[in-house]
Amino acid sequence: MKPKYKRVIIKLSGEALAGSAGHGIDTPTVQAICSQIKEVFDLGVEIAIVVGGGNFWRGRSGEGMDKSTADYMGMLATCINALGLQDVLEEMEVPVRVQTAIEMKQIAEPYIRRKAVRHLEKRRVVIFACGTGNPFFTTDTTAALRAAEIDAEIILLAKSIDAVYDSDPLTNSEAIRYSELSYIDVLNQGLKVMDSTATSLCMDNHIPILVFGLNEPKNILRAIMGEKIGTIIQEV
Ligand code: GTP
Repeated sequence: MKPKYKRVIIKLSGEALAGSAGHGIDTPTVQAICSQIKEVFDLGVEIAIVVGGGNFWRGRSGEGMDKSTADYMGMLATCINALGLQDVLEEMEVPVRVQTAIEMKQIAEPYIRRKAVRHLEKRRVVIFACGTGNPFFTTDTTAALRAAEIDAEIILLAKSIDAVYDSDPLTNSEAIRYSELSYIDVLNQGLKVMDSTATSLCMDNHIPILVFGLNEPKNILRAIMGEKIGTIIQEV
């Protein structure tokens, strides 16, 4: 069994860690995700993770609040999730280094690109916390930026839905499911995969994005093995 990719970014939304509660961290849910990550780590794949923070706070939750402040609160939420993931992965004997885009040295090491790459080469999972460290950017954009910086071959965008559709399949039974899209299709059709900043960054840097459902227990492994799951967004 040979993985298709050597170095990947896995983007996990904060909500993915919340389980059915929809809020906070649900340990069995995180354990299930981390055991999938361990499975591919054990195949020799270099894994960096970008995690969101929506299970605690979203920038847009701060209605009426200063947008930058609300975004900084979101960055702190990603840090809680990064530490949660680190704890569960280490429990599974996967070596992990968390790096934060905003310095909080007592908690984790600061983001240093060359150190992150070295950690990957030394077989450690690297978790990038605090988004890009700037307000007005999402954690999807962080995934695109870090993928470009560390030369990741693909972004595995784990979602609560199994693929990209032209409309919400939960409310529209006629929704069209895509197995392949170009970046321009995503941008022109305003498909809700990633925000346009993240999509453009991937387009400019030729980074493919695989969107797939995290609910299928083997999907991270299947994605790494190059199986045709979900929707691939790339140059056509
Ligand atoms: P090598 O240099 O490749 O050996 O990597 P390493 O991460 O094992 O070595 P280092 O001595 O840099 O780190 C040892 C431990 O301290 C690791 O768990 C790091 O995540 C952690 N660490 C390193 N720098 C910082 C920091 O600035 N703040 C915090 N909180 N932890 C750090």
